[in-house]
Amino acid sequence: MSGVDYLFLDSGTGGLPYMMELKKLLPQASCVYVGDTIHFPYGEREIEDIRQLSIELTARCTEKFNPKVIVIACNTISVSSLDVLRKNFSVPFVGTVPAIKLAASLTKNNCIGLLATRHTVNDSYTEDLIAKFAKNCTVVRRGDAELVSFIEHNLFTASYEERCNAVTPAVNFFRQHGADSIVLACTHFIHLQNEFQDVAGNQIQVIDSRDGVARQAVRVLSELKKEKPELFDSTESVPVDKAVYVTGLRSKQDEAEYRSWCARSNVPFMGCLEASSIH
Ligand code: DGL
Repeated sequence: MSGVDYLFLDSGTGGLPYMMELKKLLPQASCVYVGDTIHFPYGEREIEDIRQLSIELTARCTEKFNPKVIVIACNTISVSSLDVLRKNFSVPFVGTVPAIKLAASLTKNNCIGLLATRHTVNDSYTEDLIAKFAKNCTVVRRGDAELVSFIEHNLFTASYEERCNAVTPAVNFFRQHGADSIVLACTHFIHLQNEFQDVAGNQIQVIDSRDGVARQAVRVLSELKKEKPELFDSTESVPVDKAVYVTGLRSKQDEAEYRSWCARSNVPFMGCLEASSIH
């Protein structure tokens, strides 16, 4: 099969807004999305486990979709495993890491809230980002596995009020600590960007990395076109664009979530990567 331009990977629904952002910048690019739902949540796992799972997922998807560029639309995988992925695969990767640099340039009181998975808030990569880009700031951290789980399992079938209630504990936490900005450093949270901003009000700025990641993904593909034009020679068309796959569905509710988001976003839901992974 002729390769897709971009393969987006996450543990679940988190990377979907990143794929949509890329499509806004590059509508003609062919994209495939895979959520490793059977191993969700990555953020609660040990680092060695995350590294191993992301290598296995990348190997499986690379073989199936032959992508030109892989976007790791997951902060947890990016901070823990980008180095090992780059060592193991020759495909160029674009990572998604906490937008600390952007937050440090926007904060007025030098107090930044970092909202991520438990793994990301404690990872040494995050530590390095803070030391490099926000050394004059206080960075208040919160790992919020409960909110990640709500988004993966209930978000798209939840009401606006339920969604606002879900983000309120995190917003209150950062407000109490005096943060004037909140970095959404788990891709799942991007689905609630509006609710975060509504609950936070105009004294707190909600920041995410979507734009930066999508622009970097565009740059990487265009450089690849110059370096390896032969990769772009094929006249075969890619079968389904923006196809969304999962590695397994644990419940009818999870299936309803994916179907609901895909229908709303006008994106084809392809179900499980391999039929045998339906649990
Ligand atoms: N979406 C992922 C991230 O950006 C993590 C969700 C999970 O815990 O699996 O970190």
